[in-house]
Amino acid sequence: LAGEPLKVMISGAPASGKGTQCELIVQKYGLVHISTGDLLRAEVSSGTEIGNKAKEYMETGRLVPDEIVIAMVKSRLSQQDAKEKGWLLDGYPRSSAQAQSLEQMKIRPDIYIVLDVPDEILIDRCVGRRLDPVTGKIYHIKNFPPESEEIKARLVTRTDDTSEKVKSRLTTYKKNAEAISSTYLNILNKIDGNRPKDVVFGEIDSLLLRLQKDKVETKKLG
Ligand code: AP5
Repeated sequence: LAGEPLKVMISGAPASGKGTQCELIVQKYGLVHISTGDLLRAEVSSGTEIGNKAKEYMETGRLVPDEIVIAMVKSRLSQQDAKEKGWLLDGYPRSSAQAQSLEQMKIRPDIYIVLDVPDEILIDRCVGRRLDPVTGKIYHIKNFPPESEEIKARLVTRTDDTSEKVKSRLTTYKKNAEAISSTYLNILNKIDGNRPKDVVFGEIDSLLLRLQKDKVETKKLG
């Protein structure tokens, strides 16, 4: 017996490990991963109208205007796979207007996870981050080096991963964090993200397993 699909939100400062944990969550739970950062980077690299508008904001570490991001997420959440498999929202909502638009549509997660990592660690993580454009996998030159020379040769660095830009992304994050978490206080779970990624995932996993079990129970009762 399966319960209703899981609906998960993951938040945290730049480089707190959202994308890394999302890879592991998707592998195990098969949720539809909706990362506004990934969606926007795809628009930028394809040179679409949205991408051209978003580019200057992203490059300077500011938030892309709400109307662009809200429309993007609304359309992605309404697709059939997200309804059937459940979803994992990564890096959204990032402003109180974004959170309010979800509330208005009666879209609420089952859990709001916040990854907590000290500032000085975040900067090192960003500066050392590399992405594999072929698989989308996230690496770190020291913490998680690529598995082969072939992968290493094709890794790319994000243009917003310089230490100066990370600092301004962090300021933006801190300015908005409280307004958003106040919307989800009753389902907020803060997790210490400054531990090995498998340990962090172990904690998230046990929270999600419990939620899944509750949903099955609810279905049995209903
Ligand atoms: P986005 O792509 O969402 O960037 P971000 O929030 O700054 O988060 P990151 O992707 O930098 O980090 P992450 O937490 O996923 O960490 P990762 O797992 O990669 O957004 C980019 C831009 O798009 C924004 O600045 C904004 O302009 C725009 N945007 C996006 N969403 C928006 C929205 N809703 N509204 C408006 N604008 C929006 O890990 C980082 C590094 O650390 C990696 O190298 C990894 O290998 C390493 N690492 C991960 N976990 C660990 C661990 N446990 N121990 C050691 N190292 C680790």
